[in-house]
Amino acid sequence: MHVLAAVMGAAAAAICCVAMAAYLYVHERNKKKRKGELNNGEWLPEYRSPATGGGGGRSFSFAEIKAATRNFSEAQVVGVGRRGKVFRGVVDGGTAVAIKLAADPSPGRSAREFRAEIEALPDLRHRHLVPILGFCSDRDETILVYRYMPRGTLREHLRGKNGKPAMPWWRRLDACMGAARGLHCLHAGGVVHGDVKATTVLLDENWVAKLSDFGLSNSKHVTMKSDVYSFGVVLFEALMARRPALLTGDQAVSLAEHALACHRNGTLPDAVDAAIKDQVAPECLEKFAETAVECLAHQVTERPAMGDVLWNLELSMQLQLINPKRT
Ligand SMILES: *[C@@H]1O[C@H](CO)[C@@H](O)[C@H](O)[C@H]1NC(C)=O
Ligand SMILES: *[C@@H]1O[C@H](CO)[C@@H](O)[C@H](O)[C@H]1NC(C)=O
Repeated sequence: MHVLAAVMGAAAAAICCVAMAAYLYVHERNKKKRKGELNNGEWLPEYRSPATGGGGGRSFSFAEIKAATRNFSEAQVVGVGRRGKVFRGVVDGGTAVAIKLAADPSPGRSAREFRAEIEALPDLRHRHLVPILGFCSDRDETILVYRYMPRGTLREHLRGKNGKPAMPWWRRLDACMGAARGLHCLHAGGVVHGDVKATTVLLDENWVAKLSDFGLSNSKHVTMKSDVYSFGVVLFEALMARRPALLTGDQAVSLAEHALACHRNGTLPDAVDAAIKDQVAPECLEKFAETAVECLAHQVTERPAMGDVLWNLELSMQLQLINPKRT
C-alpha cells in the first residue's frame, strides 16, 4: 500500500512538473510573440534549416567549406579513411567542425543520391551521436559537416598516445555505454549505423562518447544485427586494446575469434589489456565479456537488441563500482 501511494505521489508530482513546464513555455512564448520577438528560427534546433527539414542540417556553400579548411590544406587534415579525408575547420566565426570529404561517390550511387539519403535521415539529436551540422550542396561532391570532437577516436586512447596514459577501465566502460546508448537511439529511429568500430566512436572534450558516420553505408548487408556484432568487437577492443585483426603466432585471426576462444577456455582475464588488468573487477569482467560474447553470436537471431546490451553494460558498470578495486 505504501509503495503504491509513493508511486502515485511521484506520478502526480511528475505530471505537475510537466504541466508547469508547458505552461511556462507557452506563457513565455506568448509574451515574446506579443513583443514581436519570436523570429522563425528561435524555436528550431540549432542549424536545422526549415528548408530541408531533415537531419542533414543546413547547407554550406563550397566557398564556406574552402575557407573553413583553408583551401583543403593538408595541415587541417585530421583523418584519412576508407571513405575519404576529414579536415578540421571553423565555421560561423567559431564553431569547430570536422569536414568530411568523400573520396568519390560510393559505387552505384551518385553524390546527389547520397546527399538525398543524408537529408532523409531522421533528425537524430542525441547526447551520444555526433551532430551533423550540414553538408555542402553546390558541388557534385559529398561534403559533410559534423561538430568537431576534440578528443578524437576511442581507438587512439586505448593504448595511450603522446606519452599520455592509456584510458582507464572505468572510462572505457563509460565510453562503451555511451556508444551503446547512441546505437540504441539509432536503432530505435530505424537507422542502421553500418560502420560501428572503435574509430567511429568519438570522444568530446568531456570524454562523452558519440557515434559518427552513421547511416552512410550503402552496403545491402548491414542490418541492426550486424551493428550489434560490430559493437561486440568494439567491446572486446576496449577490453583488450587489440585491433580487430591480429596476429597470434604467424596466423592472422580476428579479434572476435580470438576473444571468443579465450572466453571459452577461461583465459580471458589474462588477455585483458595489461594497462588496465588490475583495474577490472572480476565480476564486472564476467558480465562485460558475457555481453560482448552475446553480441558476437553466430546466429543472427541470437544476438541481443541494443537495449539489452545497454542494460547488461550498466549492470557491468554497477559490478565495477561496488568493487573496492575501482579507480
Ligand atoms: C586552392 O587550391 C587550388 C588547388 O590546389 C588552387 O588551384 C587554388 O588557387 C587555391 N586557392 C587559394 C585561394 O589558395
Ligand atoms: C586459450 O585460447 C587462446 C586463443 O585461442 C589461446 O591463445 C590460448 O593459448 C588458449 N589457452 C589455453 C590454456 O588453452
